[in-house]
Amino acid sequence: MAKTIRVAAAGDIHAGSADGDRVRDAFRRVEEQADAIVLAGDLTQHGQVDEVCVVADACRGLSIPVVAVLGNHDWQSDRPADLGRALAEAGVVVLERSHTIVPVNGVSLGVAGVKGFVGGFGNQWANFGEPIFRESYAETTRDVDGLDRGLQAIEACAVRIALLHYSPVEATLVGEPERLWLVLGADRLAGPIRQHRPDLVVHGHAHHGSFEGDIDGVPVYNVAVHVMGRAFWIFDLDSEQRTPSPPLSVEES
Ligand SMILES: [Fe+2]
Ligand SMILES: [Fe+2]
Repeated sequence: MAKTIRVAAAGDIHAGSADGDRVRDAFRRVEEQADAIVLAGDLTQHGQVDEVCVVADACRGLSIPVVAVLGNHDWQSDRPADLGRALAEAGVVVLERSHTIVPVNGVSLGVAGVKGFVGGFGNQWANFGEPIFRESYAETTRDVDGLDRGLQAIEACAVRIALLHYSPVEATLVGEPERLWLVLGADRLAGPIRQHRPDLVVHGHAHHGSFEGDIDGVPVYNVAVHVMGRAFWIFDLDSEQRTPSPPLSVEES
């Protein structure tokens, strides 16, 4: 009999140092409803350690695994390593161009995670010109390569998730001004998704974007809390069905 695992996803929690009760309550509630949690970056407002400790404290001692990527806000104070350490000490698996495989209900859940970066859609950003422009292009290339490696590494898992902060597709940006799409995602990130076809792709970052999209039938969701209008969304993922089509059903938390 097919096993369903329930994955709760949220992005852009943007915890402030005074948000402890709100964040802790949300994680406690979702712990009872889900088998695993994925966090799509922007855990903090300004990348401060006291802010990330609000999220870390909410995750500490949970009975279900938590996997996260950082977002651009989490880099704002130039302390991503300190944030990663605070989360890891609380048991959160932080991915950066890497992957993890966790057993969930007797099923292997693989998550490939990259923050992602800018670049836009339809060749808006070329590998050309001043060094800083070419370096930005190269940074996104490193994310594309990291996502490719991560998805390759979880290929044999029963359930496979691509976890990003920046969007790999335009569809989940609809609602944001189009002039901002250049810095909200990059279509080059869709390449590895098209190739490896994970069961689910989640990202955040676009607070005013749209919830649902796809990349050649691979379901993509913008799980920014501002878009969802709730703390978490719970996805039911079937361990025996590869890359569902039509897009998988979702349930409200
Ligand atoms: Fe955000
Ligand atoms: Fe962001």
